[in-house]
Amino acid sequence: MIAISPNPQTSIKFNSQPLSPFGLLLEATEPQSDIRKLSIPQLRQLTWEHSLIVLRGFSSLQEEVLPDYCTNWGTLLTWDFGTVLNLIVHDNPQNYLFTTGNVPFHWDGAFAKAVPSFLFFQCLQAPSAGSGGESLFCHTTRVLQNATPEERQAWQKINITYKTQKLAHYGGKITAPLVSQHPITGNPILRFAEPLNEDSVHLNPLFLEISGLASGKPDQFLNDLIARLYLPQHCFAHQWQEGDILIADNHALLHGRNPFLANSPRHLQRVHIL
Ligand SMILES: [Fe+2]
Repeated sequence: MIAISPNPQTSIKFNSQPLSPFGLLLEATEPQSDIRKLSIPQLRQLTWEHSLIVLRGFSSLQEEVLPDYCTNWGTLLTWDFGTVLNLIVHDNPQNYLFTTGNVPFHWDGAFAKAVPSFLFFQCLQAPSAGSGGESLFCHTTRVLQNATPEERQAWQKINITYKTQKLAHYGGKITAPLVSQHPITGNPILRFAEPLNEDSVHLNPLFLEISGLASGKPDQFLNDLIARLYLPQHCFAHQWQEGDILIADNHALLHGRNPFLANSPRHLQRVHIL
């Protein structure tokens, strides 16, 4: 059991449990604990160390309070809709995010003025058991570690141009090197956004143009890379429970979503912390 708190009077006790293949679950022993009583520097450190933390047993933060709390972590990225994105199914969605379809792996902020350091999620309504809708996270440093030295060398030379129409809150055209470096930990990371696949809901697709490939066809390279992202040793699937708070390192990880059943509820809120 560990305690994380700015002062001993407000100490909150947790059971901590490693998640597989990475991540840390911190479960408060008292239900409806207050996340605001926890030390943010310690939580930040744990997020960098484990790439992702799940806090369970805490009260959800009201939408009016959520941005204020997240501001204590860092400056928030503001979008057209503000700072809190409600991830729910829309009646007439313009983008696959707001459907029950899968969300391919990507990193957030690729098209924004700055890339968020942390993704802060809270779950207001979890999908019913067996309905899908897990959030997926890929540990890109591990993908690199498990590649051969020759593959790593070849990947270093690759740049990818991504294009998508701005139908939701993001869009445009950017070029990013496939291999980059984590600004805090210094670890090598992959920056990659996966195109929609044949099972996806084809709304607002992303188009890729690959340069710097030493050999082989772009399609072969993409298929091989994408298969590695989903390997069980690289990919954590989070099955949401109502009230879960999940904080993810947006530099170390890519994230996506499994599709879910049309009649299943799913409501997440997400804030980008720079
Ligand atoms: Fe995202």
